[in-house]
Amino acid sequence: MAPTPSSTSSAIILNINGEKHQLTVDHRTTLLDALRERLDLTGTKKGCDQGQCGACTVLVDGRRAVSCLNLAVAAEGREITTIEGVAEGDRLHPVQQAFLDLDGYQCGYCTPGQICSAVAVIEEHAAGWPSAATGDVRPEAGPPPLTPDEIRERMSGNLCRCGAYVSIVQAVARAAEAHEAAARVDQDETVKETVA
Ligand code: FES
Ligand code: FES
Repeated sequence: MAPTPSSTSSAIILNINGEKHQLTVDHRTTLLDALRERLDLTGTKKGCDQGQCGACTVLVDGRRAVSCLNLAVAAEGREITTIEGVAEGDRLHPVQQAFLDLDGYQCGYCTPGQICSAVAVIEEHAAGWPSAATGDVRPEAGPPPLTPDEIRERMSGNLCRCGAYVSIVQAVARAAEAHEAAARVDQDETVKETVA
């Protein structure tokens, strides 16, 4: 039974995948348990429940977060995106499509976390964030090439017990290429509009 607000619980509103959800949670409830046990958003998976496997990765204000280490009460007022909200309507997100096309999974248990992570990795890379695998971290060097080593390092918080890593790296690379191509088209259109 859902708890009523008390000294150990609070009524909160969570903004998840563009929808507001009102619920009362014990202050110790993790975001992961709120998603899965209270809101039936079971796409986000529980693996280790201690921040080590990445299965529970969601996006909080566009940044990756392991939902097993975040409290639901601390997520109030943030924009949360789970695997259920990654697609654009009926159209799969390019990362989802690449995982499908390139078999970036086996049992699929880690896949929602891998995909959420990859969505943010591609944005982080495009924004010029370096990783531990980046050779030249000077801002003027710009985003490093998204090599397999870069992808492996940036995705290293997401474990796959089936060992589907080879296909996962290929899928992230393909989705990143699609992202870059779309960004180039947007840029060209902006230039055309500016000139016209
Ligand atoms: S379940 Fe959260 S990191 Fe493993
Ligand atoms: S596909 Fe099975 S754990 Fe990754």
